[in-house]
Amino acid sequence: MNILHAFSINNVGLLHYVGTALIVTVLVVTIRRLFFDPLAKIPGPWYAKWTDVVLKIKSLSATGPIYVDKLHEKYGPMVRLGPSQVGVTDISAAKKIHTVKGDYVKTDYYLGLGYRKENVINTQDPETHRRHRKLLSQPISERSLKAMEPQIEEKIRLTIKRMGEEMKTRGAADVYKWWMFMATDTIGQLTFGESFHMLERGEVNTEIKDIQLIGAVSSIGTQLKAVMPILYHIRLPGFTDSLKTMSDRQSTSAIAKLQKLGEEMESKDQLLFTKLVKGLTMEGESLTGTELVYNAEGYIAAGSDTTSNTLTYSTWALCRNPELRDQLVKELENLPADFTDEHLKALPYLNHVIQEALRRFPVIPNGLPRYVPKEGAELGGYWLPGRTTVMTQAWSMHRNPEVFPNPDEFNPARWENPTKEMKDSMMAFGGGTRICLGMHLAYIELRLGLAHFFRTFPRARVSTLEGMKDDDMIQALHVVASPQSHRCLIEVL
Ligand code: HEM
Repeated sequence: MNILHAFSINNVGLLHYVGTALIVTVLVVTIRRLFFDPLAKIPGPWYAKWTDVVLKIKSLSATGPIYVDKLHEKYGPMVRLGPSQVGVTDISAAKKIHTVKGDYVKTDYYLGLGYRKENVINTQDPETHRRHRKLLSQPISERSLKAMEPQIEEKIRLTIKRMGEEMKTRGAADVYKWWMFMATDTIGQLTFGESFHMLERGEVNTEIKDIQLIGAVSSIGTQLKAVMPILYHIRLPGFTDSLKTMSDRQSTSAIAKLQKLGEEMESKDQLLFTKLVKGLTMEGESLTGTELVYNAEGYIAAGSDTTSNTLTYSTWALCRNPELRDQLVKELENLPADFTDEHLKALPYLNHVIQEALRRFPVIPNGLPRYVPKEGAELGGYWLPGRTTVMTQAWSMHRNPEVFPNPDEFNPARWENPTKEMKDSMMAFGGGTRICLGMHLAYIELRLGLAHFFRTFPRARVSTLEGMKDDDMIQALHVVASPQSHRCLIEVL
């Protein structure tokens, strides 16, 4: 027998064994997935047992929440979204996931956000989170923020002035743009003691352009963790620099600003980071310089378009419905000329408007993914093994017609006597240990922003200038949702 002949006989034998092993493996995996997988009983589309690729594609094309919502509509409050992913709209299950115990930790989705810069937002380690949160909480508490109110109000007054100027020169003000400048300049001022001055310049500066681009790539990173190291180093088409270059540039700028804040501390002792720059220690714990910088960067990203897009949708929803607008204007007429946020907290209608905008137009519409603790858990009537990803999305929780009748209607009056289910279903700021840290700051900006806007422009309405129409305001459901046309033109009569 020549060598070639012997080799081909061996090869056929080998192929036979490999083929049989492959078939057996596929059979075992299939039987396990279909009959013995603990998630097999959870309803959902057939392909979700095998892959989450559809969810990823929909999320990347900014329609993820709509896709998941349709599945909930078809299959119920617990729906299989992938081999190890489950969508949850069951209220008690959602409460269990987002508890103060914090035993459902954030998933790898968050590694994309603030890539390679661990901070209070993206950390998966409960101990790191506890320490960061403890040190960051006090300066951003409702009580501490009181001292910062004059600086916030100054930014809002400037915003209203700039909107008024644009209404005169252009015929309408793009409130989407101005609210974005306001929220970004405000969080810059409160974090670094230095505004980005976009309100004065009327345009986005390079630093914020970097942050927006980093945000855009990060939303890809949340879905495609494996490609992130590549995306991080290469320059994508349309980008002037790689993510790494932009990200390093952002940190260099943040370090310089925090150093300056440290030098000017005496005159700026009322800000979010002053005590931390001074080396705040609580019960022997503190944040390192790098942790401080990464958290400061996190604040700029988390505290700008979230607040501004909520303000944009509140403004638009009132301007397109004069009856609702007039109700707010009437309430605001009773305010003293020198009103403060304390007066606004007591205004029922204003607060119903804000609550309804947070419900109807959630700016973080996607599921907030968490891992089931390693010992597994009973959720919504099903047993889920440890490390299953569970996702509770505001987009669906806020649209449950049994909890919110006519969910698509913007109706602030529904908050006059809210039911327990309504309150428990609200996920606009997340929940439990990971609830939004900037929530009180956001509320101050929302209250002051709307009050000043509608006192200055009581007859404001949606403009039709430059072809502006309702479709412009359809939410593009990215990590942070925004109007799909990136504009919202408002005019005065
Ligand atoms: C209307 C405005 C805002 C909305 C709707 C909003 C929404 C949210 C949501 C839903 C989460 C939870 C994310 C998750 O669990 O995955 C969150 C977390 C967070 N937000 Fe906000 N946010 C707003 C404004 C702000 C502002 C102004 C800041 C300023 C610093 C901020 C800072 C943070 C931080 C630091 C976290 C992480 C908290 C943690 O994990 O412990 N947010 N926000």
